[in-house]
Amino acid sequence: MVSKAACLLPLVGGVFGQLDAIPKGFQSDQWAWVSNEDPLLAAIPGAFNRTVFDAPSAANVTDQRVASVNDHIQQSSFVAYDQRFFDVIGPNATVEQLQVLPFQVHEAPCYVKESSQLFFVEWGPPGGSENGRHDWQYLLDLKTNNLTRIKTDPPTWNVHGCVYRDGNMHVVTDGGPDETGYLAIIDPATLKRTTLLNNYFERPFISFNDIELDHEGNYYLTDSRSGFGRSLHPFNAPTQPTVYFVNGTNMRIKELAMLEGNANGITLSPDGKTLYVADTGASESKPARRNDQGPREMWAWDFATSSHGAKIPLLVNQRMLSRAIEYFYDGIRTSSNGLIFAAGGEVVDVIDPESGWTLGSIRVGGNGNDPVNIALGDHEMWIVGKGGVWHVKNIKERLSHTE
Ligand SMILES: *[C@@H]1O[C@H](CO)[C@@H](O)[C@H](O)[C@H]1NC(C)=O
Ligand SMILES: *[C@@H]1O[C@H](CO)[C@@H](O)[C@H](O)[C@H]1NC(C)=O
Ligand SMILES: *[C@@H]1O[C@H](CO)[C@@H](O)[C@H](O)[C@H]1NC(C)=O
Ligand SMILES: *[C@@H]1O[C@H](CO)[C@@H](O)[C@H](O)[C@H]1NC(C)=O
Ligand SMILES: *[C@@H]1O[C@H](CO)[C@@H](O)[C@H](O)[C@H]1NC(C)=O
Repeated sequence: MVSKAACLLPLVGGVFGQLDAIPKGFQSDQWAWVSNEDPLLAAIPGAFNRTVFDAPSAANVTDQRVASVNDHIQQSSFVAYDQRFFDVIGPNATVEQLQVLPFQVHEAPCYVKESSQLFFVEWGPPGGSENGRHDWQYLLDLKTNNLTRIKTDPPTWNVHGCVYRDGNMHVVTDGGPDETGYLAIIDPATLKRTTLLNNYFERPFISFNDIELDHEGNYYLTDSRSGFGRSLHPFNAPTQPTVYFVNGTNMRIKELAMLEGNANGITLSPDGKTLYVADTGASESKPARRNDQGPREMWAWDFATSSHGAKIPLLVNQRMLSRAIEYFYDGIRTSSNGLIFAAGGEVVDVIDPESGWTLGSIRVGGNGNDPVNIALGDHEMWIVGKGGVWHVKNIKERLSHTE
């Protein structure tokens, strides 16, 4: 894991010497630096194996030194694959679990800065509801850590994605027992919901998964097989997974992209010129199964410009920016410098937007604690997922860029 200097160091307490190589000021019990500059990791002795869905540190290995490295990674909060990661996260960052909740999906986090609250949803009571349908929504008071279950007016089924902007939570839903998926706004103070759009030229959607907003208030939505796979509504799947653009001024809607796999997390670069979408096609629906040969890519596209030089809702230059080192990415968001924070498997990865290199991972404990989606503050973020809610604070990088 690390530096050549470290390789010269003796083993300390059975743990390989990589701990000594993290930069001064960084806590060695919180950090791991994983690099193939260490011959032990570049050419692993003995037997090793893992599936694409397992974390690297959960690999089966026979070499005890590699096993020790993996133990250390599993107890770390931050795993650097690239020296830049130290500078992105900084020495003072910490990960704290705010709420211990069941090992089932928690999703759609929205950080309401003015009232210091975090909105998110849970896929039903512990164990989930039988049919996957849920109307469990929470507001977490971030000052007191008081968690309150809420009901919107009118009630909202199956919220799956959320972005907070200008006093409203902008949400998308999977649809419900007798309704299609829709785009809506919820006022966090009154909990009043207003539905903005529920059809594509009078045709239902499959089931919305996530949402992004640009600086002009236009929406980017992923329509996914995930909710359809759980039969959350009676409308079947009218199309392949699709990415939509919705003009926030007049609600005019346009298809941007079609995915062979599945459309999940979505986010824009801070300048609005690049779109990123997480493909979760490896998680198949009807029948439900995880297919290690299926898509797990993070796709990037640029927006075309009109003959007058204006950005237009037309995607060009599709490329595979990254494929998750483990599992697949669910919720994704960009920082003010354009780094992509991507939740999936046991980690939130940080990805360079130009090269696609994974700079490092933020961990929340493993053992079933799995990040699903994230909400960004200025130098802090909240992670929701299987097992609860986590707060990562004192991050050096400025994250939010929407104000
Ligand atoms: C490696 O893991 C895969 C996936 O579980 C399995 O099919 C394969 O048999 C394993 N191979 C070895 C040598 O353990
Ligand atoms: C790792 O080892 C466990 C226990 O022997 C086994 O169940 C699992 O299939 C192995 N995984 C891989 C990828 O080889
Ligand atoms: C970390 O905290 C120390 C002590 O409060 C402070 O001096 C330093 O500037 C902080 N570093 C960063 C990168 O925020
Ligand atoms: C938590 O919030 C609920 C709803 O607002 C309130 O009834 C309750 O008193 C609060 N509990 C604490 C400990 O603040
Ligand atoms: C959205 O619609 C408004 C009002 O018609 C128009 O002025 C604006 O250019 C549209 N934006 C985009 C990105 O198409």
